[in-house]
Amino acid sequence: MQDERLLSPHLTGEDDSNESSLRPLRLQDYIGQGKVKENIAISIEAARERAESLDHVLLSGPPGLGKTTLATIIAGETGRPIRKTSGPAIERPGDLAAILTNLEPGEVLFIDEIHRLNRSVEEIMYPAMEDFVIDIIIGKGPGARTLRIDLPPFTLIGATTRPGLLSSPLRDRFGINCRLDFYEVEDLERIILRASRILKLDINNDGAYEIARRSRGTPRVANRLLKRVRDFALVKGEGNIDRDMARRALDMLEIDEQGLDNVDRMILEAIINKFNGGPVGLETLSACVSEESDTVTDVYEPFLLKLGFIQKTPRGRIATELAYRHLGIKFKGSFQEPQLFEDESND
Ligand SMILES: Nc1ncnc2c1ncn2[C@@H]1O[C@H](COP(=O)(O)OP(=O)(O)O)[C@@H](O)[C@H]1O
Ligand SMILES: [Mg+2]
Repeated sequence: MQDERLLSPHLTGEDDSNESSLRPLRLQDYIGQGKVKENIAISIEAARERAESLDHVLLSGPPGLGKTTLATIIAGETGRPIRKTSGPAIERPGDLAAILTNLEPGEVLFIDEIHRLNRSVEEIMYPAMEDFVIDIIIGKGPGARTLRIDLPPFTLIGATTRPGLLSSPLRDRFGINCRLDFYEVEDLERIILRASRILKLDINNDGAYEIARRSRGTPRVANRLLKRVRDFALVKGEGNIDRDMARRALDMLEIDEQGLDNVDRMILEAIINKFNGGPVGLETLSACVSEESDTVTDVYEPFLLKLGFIQKTPRGRIATELAYRHLGIKFKGSFQEPQLFEDESND
């Protein structure tokens, strides 16, 4: 499954244990994402000068790009405690009411996967975010009445891999909206060098670069590959990581020059060989590679789209000439000139 994949940007048990040691704690140590960082730094400064709590923040982007890290940093930089939960963990309106009424004044509430909050819970959230109140309905039928409870001011930080699935009333209540993008190779190289210092690894710039460019633009993947290469270097060499060592390790792990792994290649091969280049629908494609359609949408597609290997058309996914070239398959021309749609909701 997805979490056993080496390139999976999702957390695995192993990451969990030492991801915290690699997680930057200050905004200045958060590498890359220049625009997002600047935006947040200014908002934090402004809130400080007004002596108010920070506006609600929505962080969106594919898994492993640093949303949870950034939420923790924001709390740290504003000197506020942070309470972490997730959309699926808040099942009923009463669960959310309990969390909200127990917040310390100024506390940061982090809700991961906020697109998975259910509607009845969301409705409690609207007045809470806007006016720091919640309305609780007591009783049933004609005798029912609404009780309004004041909340301490708080900052909500929501994280989502699928901003398009958020209802617009919820999305509109976030004052600060940040979209994280895949990282540049240079940024990943810095992230790898930083992690190497923390893990006390002997690595040179070429070695770091080689890992960086095969990390799918994703810090979590970069850190994970670094550890695999470290193991390889210990067993096959003296432990030091240079370009050759990194290359041999990554080749053995079947991660190709563009950072694609087996599942990525299976997706491209399915579109090309089974569907003559596409278009092919999401459900069919997911079934072909035995993955959940959500995993294909959240994890695989964003990077394949970013590389320009696939395109989305109204009738499904198509493989581009670049994908054929990457796999060394002769391109017979596109099935039909694709009509792209500018949909950011992923589907
Ligand atoms: N900008 C960054 N600079 C340095 N390391 C980062 C950065 N973003 C993420 N990381 C690393 O990647 C890991 C995964 O980030 P995380 O915040 O958990 O991603 P997300 O919540 O978006 O899935 C973190 O533990 C951290 O080590
Ligand atoms: Mg996270």
